[in-house]
Amino acid sequence: MPSSLPPVDQLTREEAAEELARLAKLIAQHDYLYHQLATPEISDADYDTLIARNRAIEAKFPDLRRIDSPSHRIGAPPAPGFKKVKHRTPMLSLDNAFTPDDVTDFLNRIRRFLQLPADQLIEMTAEPKIDGLSASLHYQEGRFILGATRGDGSEGEDITANLRTVKGIPLILQGENIPQNLEIRGEVYMRRDDFLKLNEARITAREPEFANPRNAAAGSVRQLDPTITAKRPLHFFAYAYEVLSGIKDKTQSELLESLKRWGFSVTTLRQVCKNEADLMAFYRNLETMRADLDFDIDGVVYKVNNLDWQNRLGTVGRTPRHSIAHKFAAEKAETTLEDILIQVGRTGVLTPVAILKPVTVGGVVVQRATLHNEDELARKDVRIGDHVEIQRAGDVIPQVVRVITEKRLPTSAPFIFPKNCPVCGSEAVRLENEVARRCTDGLVCPAQAVERLKHFVSRNAFDIEGLGEKHIEGFYQEGLIRSPADIFTLEARDRQSLTPLRNKEGWGEQSARNLFQAIEQRRTISLDRFIYALGIPQVGAVTAKLLARHYRTLANLCIQMVDAHDRDSESWADLLALEGIGPNMASDLVGFFNQPHNQTIVDNLAALLTIPEFIVEAAISSPLTGKTIVFTGTLSNLSRAEAKARAERLGAKVTGSVTNKTDYVVVGEDAGSKAKAAKELGIQVLSEDEFVGLMGE
Ligand code: IVH
Repeated sequence: MPSSLPPVDQLTREEAAEELARLAKLIAQHDYLYHQLATPEISDADYDTLIARNRAIEAKFPDLRRIDSPSHRIGAPPAPGFKKVKHRTPMLSLDNAFTPDDVTDFLNRIRRFLQLPADQLIEMTAEPKIDGLSASLHYQEGRFILGATRGDGSEGEDITANLRTVKGIPLILQGENIPQNLEIRGEVYMRRDDFLKLNEARITAREPEFANPRNAAAGSVRQLDPTITAKRPLHFFAYAYEVLSGIKDKTQSELLESLKRWGFSVTTLRQVCKNEADLMAFYRNLETMRADLDFDIDGVVYKVNNLDWQNRLGTVGRTPRHSIAHKFAAEKAETTLEDILIQVGRTGVLTPVAILKPVTVGGVVVQRATLHNEDELARKDVRIGDHVEIQRAGDVIPQVVRVITEKRLPTSAPFIFPKNCPVCGSEAVRLENEVARRCTDGLVCPAQAVERLKHFVSRNAFDIEGLGEKHIEGFYQEGLIRSPADIFTLEARDRQSLTPLRNKEGWGEQSARNLFQAIEQRRTISLDRFIYALGIPQVGAVTAKLLARHYRTLANLCIQMVDAHDRDSESWADLLALEGIGPNMASDLVGFFNQPHNQTIVDNLAALLTIPEFIVEAAISSPLTGKTIVFTGTLSNLSRAEAKARAERLGAKVTGSVTNKTDYVVVGEDAGSKAKAAKELGIQVLSEDEFVGLMGE
């Protein structure tokens, strides 16, 4: 420590600015030496002196505080809420493998997609799948400027101030040749011992305990007050960066080395594997180490090592083709089943739920487990009072695996599945080919109405802050919200009401105003969220986006779906031609939009909301952007899947049948009727080479 530094109160403004820059860099270096390399070069006392000097200078010149200042580590003042952040490239999730066969299938899919010969080695990396929450970190000129949660994958929350307090996240990157703009992806997690200590402290303070380290990490990162986050022992491990220019890494292993050089923690438990046997050996080895690790893991992630191949493999829906999570077997426990409850879902399906004597499975207290459906329940012959084995795997709802029949009481009787809806009393029937028994009164059944409303406001749908499941139930019971449109007339009705919300129990002036504001903010909604919110059977977030992209406006979607009622129509053919939509889902969609009751719901909402035309974000503009393409015959250099994926990445739509909306038909060897149809309709036909030429790669 040089002792010759001038006292802070003698510094000129310029000197102060210079010294703050120097201190930010110096402290970042010592953070790196201490946290990442575990080779500190100065004593704790000297480090504290640096921090104190930085703070003293900032106190004298508050406006000179830098974005990369180490004083952010102690947390910024609380914020009223989190801003939303759109991810430049979506934050994906991983497909799961549960058995070695699933892994074989995964490798075969890669081989087929890349058209690799059978004897070609596919080098993979294996690393632990840490059970935390994913985060994306943006660096500009080596400085941490923005951190976000995953959110729904397209849009997350700005948690920069909180992440700045996480010691393992460098505020300034180390090393040379750092790309100007860099986006890091990784996992924020809490170690087991820290989690236990935190819970002990919470018990003493009469605060609710966290269920597991993952929830503790998530709860800490989503604190509106960053000084609380700063007190939580969080860690970060980096596993990827987004494809950026100026980086020369060729493999996943090199990528991790770059991350390490820049100052991030990367897992030491990683290995390059040459074949499936290597992967399995790694998996088994890690499984035996699992209980002794400092942190929770729930499987192994396998990744194609070659980054060029990773890029070619691309994504399906929301998962990359190049990686998979091989999950560990579920953790099991034994308990007694105290009751069987019948829940009614939003589509009227009756689901049996086991009410259990509370038991701990893998560190989480479980009190309920799903019994799936009537047939499963009968097959396992689950009875009230039985001893049962239950299991829990990661995020999955706990399940009853089997009944321990040796311990069954002689007085027990088989469970009789109700033939009526337990909520509205209407008849519950089973349709042909369906395992589910459904309440037949979709319009009136309160259970279904409430579940539909809960879905409508859920995270991937309208996501209205302050309008959670409990509120929906309350508003429904009071008759204030009975259908989705009621949400958007709530404030107007409240103004006329003799018993306004602010006077109700649990509400006040401020919270009522906040709710109305949150609702107002959602009066403009994207088409894909709107479609998802409708709760059409089988239509999840991915399909909703697909439909939004294809139909562009709500009016067009409604017209096409009504037309598609006629199975000979072009609209029906057009719907079926969409990749990812089979006849079953298409029927559900058309069925939904042709029901007068649903039409009323959609019309009422449309009158209250603004739903802009869905704009297709083509990442790159190319001659294929916006074009509709049909492939036919066998291509020689690309697999069909890769050709399709690459065309889609350039903003093209790939369909299965040639219609007058088709722009190009790409013809491989032995092309049949589609090539002929193209000629008849006067559609431009391309050879494989011409197609590759158009893609410009
Ligand atoms: S690579 C597709 N590697 O698991 C996204 N993910 O569903 C890239 N995770 O949300 C994932 N450890 O946050 C990758 N070693 C690891 C991981 C890992 C944990 C999380 C990740 C993602 C989830 C996958």
